[in-house]
Amino acid sequence: MILYYSSTGNSYHVAREINRHYPGKMIDMAKAEEKERYVLADGETLFIVTYNCFWGVSKLVEDFFKLHQFSNVNKIVAVITCGGYLGSGDFFLNRVLRANNLPQAEVYDLVMVTNYVILHKVPEPDVQKQLLYTAENRLQQILSGQVKPYSSSRLTRMLGWIVHAIYSRFRYTKPFTVSEACISCGKCARNCPVQAIELFQGRPFWKKNTCDHCLKCLHNCPTAAINYGRSTLGKKTYRYPE
Ligand SMILES: Cc1cc2nc3c(=O)[nH]c(=O)nc-3n(C[C@H](O)[C@H](O)[C@H](O)COP(=O)(O)O)c2cc1C
Ligand code: SF4
Ligand code: SF4
Repeated sequence: MILYYSSTGNSYHVAREINRHYPGKMIDMAKAEEKERYVLADGETLFIVTYNCFWGVSKLVEDFFKLHQFSNVNKIVAVITCGGYLGSGDFFLNRVLRANNLPQAEVYDLVMVTNYVILHKVPEPDVQKQLLYTAENRLQQILSGQVKPYSSSRLTRMLGWIVHAIYSRFRYTKPFTVSEACISCGKCARNCPVQAIELFQGRPFWKKNTCDHCLKCLHNCPTAAINYGRSTLGKKTYRYPE
């Protein structure tokens, strides 16, 4: 079974690739709203694929494990995609699993392309290509058991408390703006994993004060009409090239 959560497609690509090697059920954590009981077959591995969120995992992933129940889970393997550095991502994912009586995961970090355009810029297309090529090779090595699991140091974990705490300060929706380029397609509202957006007179507005801060709305708008304050103005958007 593969549980995945992806905003711009990196983690979704990884989940699909894992599924090619280990065929089984793929579950989008963003869509599983009703409380479920997931039962694994004897000897089946539970895979988790998500993106690094301020050196941890996003609120949606935390809530997913709180809401759902799992049986017969003996081995968990997680691949956390990131834009540069996993930090304490392994520690925070395992903390969530422990809190929900699940075994600790073997965590692998996978640097792909950053989508966190609030603090960074999406790299140029040739750099993206190189990064994704390297990531693909590493993913195949992870899947064939040639890579050692990631383990953050004590110091990184201590710093992680500070880095991950910043996430909650960025989850406010107030800074989102929509430009005149909006064509009222409704994609942002339809795709938001936490239903934070609604269309009013053809224009999106954020009806919740906080959201998961995944930036899916911003990166998937067909006219790049969505910005987050001034920090994303003029910056390129990103989606995994399929
Ligand atoms: C809210 C948020 C926080 C992020 N924090 C980090 C981070 O701490 N370190 C990092 O390397 N990348 C970070 N990123 C970048 C993503 O982890 C990275 O681009 C990831 O591969 C995106 O996966 P996706 O396409 O499946 O959504 C962050 C992205 C978002 C949206
Ligand atoms: S996705 Fe973009 S164009 Fe479509 S409604 Fe939302 S802001 Fe407007
Ligand atoms: S409003 Fe945008 S950033 Fe926030 S959860 Fe929805 S899609 Fe993600």
